[in-house]
Amino acid sequence: MSELLHKQIQQLPKVELHSHLEGCIQPELVRAIAERNGISLKNGLFTTDDMFAWSNFVEFLQAYDEASFCLRKAQDYRDIMYTYMAQCAAEGTIYAETFISPDHAAAVGMSYDDMLSGCVEGINDAERDFGIVGRLIVSCIRHLGPEQAVVVAQQLADNPHPYIVGFGMGGNESMFTQADFAPAFNIAFAAGFACTTHAGEVLGPESVWDAIDNLPVTRIGHGVRSAEDPTLMLELAERGIALEVCPGSNIALSVYPDLASHPLNKILQAGISTSLNSDDPPFFATTVGAEYQSGAQDFGLDLEQLRNISRMAMKASFADVNTKTRLLAVIG
Ligand code: ADE
Ligand code: ZN
Repeated sequence: MSELLHKQIQQLPKVELHSHLEGCIQPELVRAIAERNGISLKNGLFTTDDMFAWSNFVEFLQAYDEASFCLRKAQDYRDIMYTYMAQCAAEGTIYAETFISPDHAAAVGMSYDDMLSGCVEGINDAERDFGIVGRLIVSCIRHLGPEQAVVVAQQLADNPHPYIVGFGMGGNESMFTQADFAPAFNIAFAAGFACTTHAGEVLGPESVWDAIDNLPVTRIGHGVRSAEDPTLMLELAERGIALEVCPGSNIALSVYPDLASHPLNKILQAGISTSLNSDDPPFFATTVGAEYQSGAQDFGLDLEQLRNISRMAMKASFADVNTKTRLLAVIG
């Protein structure tokens, strides 16, 4: 790739729709927060070259839980949000939606209000300092089950905030079905929240069918394994359901052996609304900027195609109409 294209991509306005706040904590910040909260971190959380240590999907989720375990105060959430947004803004990101998990906060005795107020402060400080706009998606955790998901959805419905724009679900895709979570999603949707769910990442196209047939979702987290089913690809394109694609995450978690096997281009060619995202940046040694650079380097996308990805992402975002219109004008 030419130096010029690299620079042009650096400057391109970017939109991130899929990152997990608890998965955005850099090892250095985990240590700083753990120390100030007087918490000792589990031995073996980091590798010798200061990355998170894990070697499969379940271990990844465990390392992610362990990093979250040291978060005890609103300030901790503020600092993670601010650091993450500052890094996104430095790469040209103008808008970012981040999943937050009330279950992780509750597990260490933190209230929903403290978690939220920290995130809101981080978003406000980042917008003031870097101009980036941040919004939140409250996420339930699939492996905690459908009943706990209802608790999270009801808490969301009872405590609206202008920065919370959606409801989502992450966690271990091999437990329960998407349909099991319809009661939770229906509560959030009825309360006015747009919805997305992780599907078609670990499991195949049937998991995406399960999601779009049973949940009020307009986006799918990952959804890349839809590429194995041509009928599903047509359905996603026709219904305008957007995929939050995270190629670096997919390689790190061995969904595909390498980027050459990744279906990003197939998805784009099918006319499906697509965004490029980091998922859990320090866990997967990636960033949204790196994903856009990889779009050119590994998938042969040109600047206009990458700009169109930013446009599709902004349109598929859960932001209000005024924010969408204003930021779409910035993308050009
Ligand atoms: N939580 C954080 N990252 C995730 C991923 N890639 N899949 C499912 N749950 C997650
Ligand atoms: Zn994710």
